[in-house]
Amino acid sequence: MQATKRSPIIGYPTRSSCAKPAWPMNDSLFQHQPIPDLHLDPLRPLKGVIVGAGQVGMACAYAMVIKNLFDELVIVDINRDKLDGEVMDLQHGMSFVEPTTITAGTLADGAGADIVVITAGAAQQPGETRLALVQRNVKILQSLTPEVVAHCPNAIVLMVANPVDVLTYVAWKLSGLPSARVIGSGTVLDTGRFRYLLAQKFGVDPRSLHAYIIGEHGDSEVPFWSQATIAGTPLAPPDLPATEKAALDDIFYQVKNAAYEIIRRKGYTSYAIGLAVAQIVQAIARDQNRVLTVSSLINGMHGIDDVYLSLPAVVNRMGVTRVMKVKLSDRERDSLQQSAATLRSVIDQIQF
Ligand SMILES: NC(=O)c1ccc[n+]([C@@H]2O[C@H](COP(=O)([O-])OP(=O)(O)OC[C@H]3O[C@@H](n4cnc5c(N)ncnc54)[C@H](O)[C@@H]3O)[C@@H](O)[C@H]2O)c1
Repeated sequence: MQATKRSPIIGYPTRSSCAKPAWPMNDSLFQHQPIPDLHLDPLRPLKGVIVGAGQVGMACAYAMVIKNLFDELVIVDINRDKLDGEVMDLQHGMSFVEPTTITAGTLADGAGADIVVITAGAAQQPGETRLALVQRNVKILQSLTPEVVAHCPNAIVLMVANPVDVLTYVAWKLSGLPSARVIGSGTVLDTGRFRYLLAQKFGVDPRSLHAYIIGEHGDSEVPFWSQATIAGTPLAPPDLPATEKAALDDIFYQVKNAAYEIIRRKGYTSYAIGLAVAQIVQAIARDQNRVLTVSSLINGMHGIDDVYLSLPAVVNRMGVTRVMKVKLSDRERDSLQQSAATLRSVIDQIQF
């Protein structure tokens, strides 16, 4: 079935809406990223590519298909048999959702895609160091990136494979694309876990609560307690009793260790990251200007330069066009700088 032209529905990007707010920007709120000069036909079919048909890639595909984010979705994997099986399984659900043309293919089949999601990554082998794993995943990127750029020169590249901040930096460098168009899923998942656990504690819907995890998606991530609120009411004010503070610290501990705990029990994580990636893709595809803690290039903020990490940033059809100039406490700023230093030291040790 051929994908047809999308009708102009509310929320679908138009050329005039792309990254252009109605009023002049207040520079005290945002740091602007250079915006690439893209002229897209807003009515052409939206095409997405997922590289890696593993647990994460397929959970992303499943969530995207249910949300009907693309007209065409091409899924790519080096394991052709597994890829064909996964795609057949997904295709057989098409009578239950809005139409998406799903194909098992190559990056060449994904030519002209709007968004390329990279979930292809090697898993850690017994006895293998984290750094050795990084180097192996960098090698995968070295083979993938030139193909992505050749076939999908206008795509926004969304990195999901781990370590996501380092790999996003490497993909940006290897691709030569504007930093606004190479982003990582960052701490969107961690932020979702944080909101879920806080929402459980305070008895509200997670969507009624503002709280962020910032920094590395990994061990050095930082809870942004000073801005955690429900309806503007701080959840962690300085005068919080010690028992309450311990309960909040425990919530952050659970967030930071969630992946280890899930992997110990079921071997991998998939559903929540699939939904998180679908939300990022929705923000891009529908030009939502949504504030998400994606991993973006940080230059000259909070004393941090030339590192990809997560801070609340505006995501739209151009990628990440603005990073919020959030106000951090001294402690949060120190922790964020340490997180950046951790990422920088990994980048300095790998070869690409
Ligand atoms: N960013 C996050 O929040 C987050 C969350 C969960 C997992 N992850 C990461 O996502 C990645 C994938 O995890 P998974 O559980 O799906 O692993 P998986 O082993 O199930 O799947 C990886 C897939 O990538 C494929 N692949 C490997 N090299 C390839 C290449 N060059 N081209 C195409 N396909 C290739 C493999 O054949 C496999 O099907 C891992 O790096 C994992 O750590 C990230």
